[in-house]
Amino acid sequence: MKKMLVIHASPRGERSHSRRLAESFLEAWQAANPDAQVTRREVGRAFIPHVTEAFVAANFHPEPQALPKVMKADLQLSDELVGELIEHDLLVIAMPLYNFGVPSGLKAWIDQIVRMGLTFDITQDSHGNAQYHALLKGKKALIITCRGGSGFGPGGEFEWMNHADPHLRTVLGYIGIDDVSVIAAEGEESDKSVFQRACAEAERQLHDVAGRF
Ligand SMILES: Cc1cc2nc3c(=O)[nH]c(=O)nc-3n(C[C@H](O)[C@H](O)[C@H](O)COP(=O)(O)O)c2cc1C
Repeated sequence: MKKMLVIHASPRGERSHSRRLAESFLEAWQAANPDAQVTRREVGRAFIPHVTEAFVAANFHPEPQALPKVMKADLQLSDELVGELIEHDLLVIAMPLYNFGVPSGLKAWIDQIVRMGLTFDITQDSHGNAQYHALLKGKKALIITCRGGSGFGPGGEFEWMNHADPHLRTVLGYIGIDDVSVIAAEGEESDKSVFQRACAEAERQLHDVAGRF
C-alpha cells in the first residue's frame, strides 16, 4: 500500500495557495490511488520547536543506546517526526517562499528530522575525515511551492536568490531522498490574472503528476 506524508508549511489556512494546490493534487492522487494512506503534518500553523542545547546533546550523544531517560525526552517529538517520515514512502511538501528561504516552521521540522543514526550517519575515513551517509531509501518527494514574485525557478532571473526548494533538495538528498520534483506557482504579488494563470498551470502539472506519483 502506498503511504503519503503531506507537510503543510504555510501559516495561512484557506488563504494559502500552496495548501490549496497541494490539496487539489491530493484529491487527484487519491482518486488514482483509492487504497493509499495519507497523513498530514502541520508545520505552518502548529509550533515545531527550534533546536535547543539539550536536543543537540541528546542527538549527538556518544552512546545513543545508553541515553539517560531525561535526554530521551528531549528527542521525543523528533522521534515521532522521524518515525512518521520513515513510515511513508511518498513525501509532499507544500510551502511558500519566505524571504528567499523556507518558512521557519518548515526549517524547524527539517532540524527535527535530520537525525544522527536514524536518517543520516557519520563515520570517519582512514585519515579521520568525516564521511556522511544517507540512511533513507526508496522514497520520493514532491515540493509544491508558491511565490509572490516571479523568476525564482530554474533559468529565471532570480534563481540565485531562491534558497527554498534548492535547500530542501540538498537536505532531502543528504538523508537519502534524491527523487525530488518541484512544481511552483509564481506571481502572487502580480496582477490577479497573472497569478491565476500560474496557479492553473501548476494545477495542470500537479494533476498530470498525480497519475504517476
Ligand atoms: C513573511 C513573508 C515573506 C515573503 N517572502 C517572499 C520572497 O522572498 N519572495 C517572494 O517571491 N515572495 C515572498 N512572499 C510571498 C509569498 O511567497 C506568497 O504570498 C505565497 O503565495 C505564500 O504562500 P501561501 O499562499 O501558501 O501562504 C513572502 C510572504 C510573506 C508573508
